[in-house]
Amino acid sequence: MQNKLKDAVVLITGSTRGIGRATLEEFLSYGAKVILHSRRPLKELETIAKQYPEGQVYPISADLSKPEDCSFLLKSVIDKFGKLDILVNNAGIIYRERETLPNSSAWQNTLQVNLLAIADLIRMSVPYLNKSEIASIVNVSSIYGTIGTLETLSYSISKGGINTLTRTLAKEYAPKIRVNAVAPGNVDTELTKSGGEKVSTYFNEVTPLKRSATPQEIAAGIVFLASPAASFITGQILTIDGGYSIR
Ligand SMILES: NC(=O)c1ccc[n+]([C@@H]2O[C@H](COP(=O)([O-])OP(=O)(O)OC[C@H]3O[C@@H](n4cnc5c(N)ncnc54)[C@H](OP(=O)(O)O)[C@@H]3O)[C@@H](O)[C@H]2O)c1
Repeated sequence: MQNKLKDAVVLITGSTRGIGRATLEEFLSYGAKVILHSRRPLKELETIAKQYPEGQVYPISADLSKPEDCSFLLKSVIDKFGKLDILVNNAGIIYRERETLPNSSAWQNTLQVNLLAIADLIRMSVPYLNKSEIASIVNVSSIYGTIGTLETLSYSISKGGINTLTRTLAKEYAPKIRVNAVAPGNVDTELTKSGGEKVSTYFNEVTPLKRSATPQEIAAGIVFLASPAASFITGQILTIDGGYSIR
């Protein structure tokens, strides 16, 4: 099959580590041109970009908690490449709260980074994606978006919002742009470490496959959904959880 991802321009938010970094490397293996993005200073991103083949990885620093940075991010991609083929909304944060309904700025920040920034980036990307022959958006949700959980309600709400956004925008932007999401269970990354060892131990015990996912296992699902191999799939939330949700 022809490799349609070769030279495709792919923006992956939050691609310095974890699932985003693994996704960046997976797209690179198909010859795509990828944007390495996070809120870290540009110098740090440039250092990471140097590890990859020259001209394939383009670093952009933007803090998604600031709406003006979302515009800057998209504008920088277009200024550099003049087009966008695939948008992967991966960046995300989690706050673990003692009270279920705290009145905290952490709530607002979680919703801004995990949901509102995604809506903004999609809205700004659509005119460019509409010009691509392989236009696709993949959002990174979570199983918590469906089942919810104590102590991370703001996170779960943001992920539930992503699921609704994904299904709704898949209808809105069809037939030109496919919109899908992945919903991982527990994945071995920095984000999970913030829950302490007990969270991973619990997941590993109750998950039928008896372990957490590697970031690469989630990246494989993201790249599949974004690729022409998934050309008849839109509006779907692909659960990748080792069977946790059917236990
Ligand atoms: N790990 C899991 O078990 C799990 C399960 C389900 C879903 N997910 C979802 O998967 C996605 C990736 O998670 P991960 O586990 O790979 O997390 P991670 O290792 O903590 O990586 C998060 C990435 O997002 C970036 N980021 C965070 N806040 C940002 C902001 N305000 N502006 C720009 N970039 C920002 C980070 O960049 P910096 O370099 O700037 O910190 C980093 O590159 C998230 O949406 C998460 O909710 C994870």
